[in-house]
Amino acid sequence: MQSLVRHLHAFTTEMGITEAEWRTAIDALTESGRITDDRRQEFILWSDALGLSMLVDAIAHPKPEGATESTVLGPFWADGSPSRDYGEAIFDSAVGEPAWVHGRVLSVDGTPLQGALLDVWQNDANELYGVQEEEAPEAHLRGTFRTRADGSYAFLGVRPVPYRIPSDGPVGHMLAACGRHSWRPAHLHMIVSAPGYEALTTHIFDADSPYLDTDAVFAVKPSLLRRFVRRAADDPEKPATVTGSWWSVENDIVLAPHGEGGK
Ligand code: BEZ
Ligand code: FE
Repeated sequence: MQSLVRHLHAFTTEMGITEAEWRTAIDALTESGRITDDRRQEFILWSDALGLSMLVDAIAHPKPEGATESTVLGPFWADGSPSRDYGEAIFDSAVGEPAWVHGRVLSVDGTPLQGALLDVWQNDANELYGVQEEEAPEAHLRGTFRTRADGSYAFLGVRPVPYRIPSDGPVGHMLAACGRHSWRPAHLHMIVSAPGYEALTTHIFDADSPYLDTDAVFAVKPSLLRRFVRRAADDPEKPATVTGSWWSVENDIVLAPHGEGGK
């Protein structure tokens, strides 16, 4: 608290904060409290949009060489996603084009991890996550998967699109006042865990997406960029449930053993 107060006072002195500015800050906090409920968390959004979430994540999860990097959780993860089989679709029907997401979960020494748990969620081409679609089935665009003996996992998702973080509240006003946009580049989310390994919260970023350099929540790491490959309708590897053309993206995930954060 002493350090926090020291920095707060130093900031206030350095900026010569006026009573009107102090009142504006209090109003923004008051409004953040008013707008926050079970579904909307404006305080975490402040943390995300100020880069604080990524800083706390970096301090909490230093990774050893070769381990997949972490990034923000975001507000659209929901507990209790259904367990699905290898290769299953995470939607019944979707607006976007199907994307076969596949890879292996490995230890930093290259050992494939059997039975690792992947909890995945993503948005559709209408920009919305499953939890934002009132009419959609409960488990729309999310699911959990277990890796096979060779560490492999696969599921059918959709090619994600960029979307705006909620910007109808105080965080949105701050972004506008700073001349910042509210877009995030296209990505899929996953939390990957296995016994004896540090759980990993991460994204697959579409390497061809706009906004990779100006993510509203500063969550892009170059090591997390993957290319979505266009696949033809007559491609022999086409999943049985796909009709028409599709995309695939390969993404291996490397987990760090517990207690080996390093640096
Ligand atoms: C997300 O990627 O879901 C997200 C992250 C931070 C703020 C808003 C959305
Ligand atoms: Fe997201």
